[in-house]
Amino acid sequence: MQFHLVVALSALCSASAFTAPAKTPSSSRLFVAAEPKNDLFVDATATQSSVQEYYGQTLATSDDLKTNACCTGDAPPSYIKQAIDKIHPDVKAKYYGCGLCLPQYDMTGARVLDLGCGAGRDVYIASQLVGPTGKVVGVDMTEEQLQTALETQTYHEEKFGYNNVQFLQGYLENLDQIPELKDQKFDVIISNCVINLCSDKKGVLEHCYNLLEEGGEFYFSDVYASRRVPQELQDDPVLWGECLSGALYWNDFECLSRDVGFDPRLVEDAPITVSNADVQRSIAEHGHEALEFYSATYRLWKLLDLEPACEDYGQAVIYKGTIPRYQSGWLLDKHHYFEQGRIKTVCGNTWKMLQDTRLKEHFEFVGNFDNHYGIFEGCGSSLPYDAQSSAAAGKGDATKGSCC
Ligand SMILES: C[S@@+](CC[C@H](N)C(=O)[O-])C[C@H]1O[C@@H](n2cnc3c(N)ncnc32)[C@H](O)[C@@H]1O
Repeated sequence: MQFHLVVALSALCSASAFTAPAKTPSSSRLFVAAEPKNDLFVDATATQSSVQEYYGQTLATSDDLKTNACCTGDAPPSYIKQAIDKIHPDVKAKYYGCGLCLPQYDMTGARVLDLGCGAGRDVYIASQLVGPTGKVVGVDMTEEQLQTALETQTYHEEKFGYNNVQFLQGYLENLDQIPELKDQKFDVIISNCVINLCSDKKGVLEHCYNLLEEGGEFYFSDVYASRRVPQELQDDPVLWGECLSGALYWNDFECLSRDVGFDPRLVEDAPITVSNADVQRSIAEHGHEALEFYSATYRLWKLLDLEPACEDYGQAVIYKGTIPRYQSGWLLDKHHYFEQGRIKTVCGNTWKMLQDTRLKEHFEFVGNFDNHYGIFEGCGSSLPYDAQSSAAAGKGDATKGSCC
């Protein structure tokens, strides 16, 4: 029986106090966690080791990536850009995310968990957004990535004037076995280009559900495929490491997240251009040119009694225009942009996403759940992503205006 080590790294330890975690259980701070569950014919141990090697040793910076799968997305809003400007260059150089995974409302005081935080770029952005009354915990399995995060902790503390971040080493498949996360709840869980790399995706979603406070959300960017990725591509460690072949077929992901209790809401998406000749050849050799990849940001709220489909109860909401920086309108997801002052009809699940969360104070609510009028019109079931986008121009161009 093989064991995995989950090593807790001190919340407030300074860069100089950090020593690389041991590989064998030699200290009382080491915790032996059970082997992760297998899923979708993926060997969990082999997958984790090869991904660890890819992000720990193969890649030195985001320039070493072979595709733009792990580095896509439009330019972030200016307040996020300002937060990025304050981040240490070593952390920014090791950013491998595929989108903006920070919800756009006032996050002051929120408890945030970043799954697969890498070198910590999104942790340090969130640290600024939640302020000194909030906290941000980053979890990652790769020592080299966490080392950069920890080595720059004092730098960020001095820059922000406080330290509200903690980094933990562990596997996302075993989040329930990380002692520091026991009895903790989070308002927002974020993740940037990581779930596709995990061997047990449903298990990770279940851990997220358990770690979220009711009314909290899992807001994350990841890579999805237009159809199921064939086994021979899943077996290619470079394609997996580049965040491509571990990608879920979008409808499998949406069904999986409904099984766990969420109602997945797509916020934004962009096609991924595989411009690297070797990677293109590898996909073509297997005859899978028609396979398309997208980066997408979803939000999954933890709310009681969400229904499997959009049901119509004749309800409507009016946005008050009070979310900071979004006075004229605010986007919940790709299908719901709320203009200030305008009555908008919504299904029962959307109503709950607005009324039973921190968004409540920003909306007026019309109606209730007394009468049911059938399915809410426009509930779609075809590919939800747009084929064209501003980030579709290949790695070089996509990276210019991106979060990188
Ligand atoms: C594509 S990088 C993204 C890193 C970071 N989110 C960012 O935006 O820069 C993927 C990260 O996920 C981590 N990772 C992948 N699979 C993991 C797993 N099963 N458990 C914990 N961390 C994992 C890797 O170590 C790596 O740091």
